[in-house]
Amino acid sequence: MTTLTVLPSGKTYDVAAGQSLLKALQSVGEPIVSKCGGEARCESCHVAVPEGRKTLSKIQRIENEKLDGIVGIGSTSRLACQAILGEEAVTVQLL
Ligand code: FES
Repeated sequence: MTTLTVLPSGKTYDVAAGQSLLKALQSVGEPIVSKCGGEARCESCHVAVPEGRKTLSKIQRIENEKLDGIVGIGSTSRLACQAILGEEAVTVQLL
């Protein structure tokens, strides 16, 4: 298990490690859009991760290519469907 804090609500949840950030957010009822079903094709699950980035899985090429095409990308940007939760706490900002 790990702790997931979601901004801007500031709510904190205990969620299972080893699942995607997208699945974790959906499982707790947070409003995240997934138009492509988690296939790294739609960019709708773009989030910022201000804390705990290092505990997430590394950015793979398919995610990197998608992120490059998003306007407003920042150094904390991730595609929630591609970021797998580790054991340490993560804070995610819904965009
Ligand atoms: S859900 Fe489509 S890119 Fe993540």
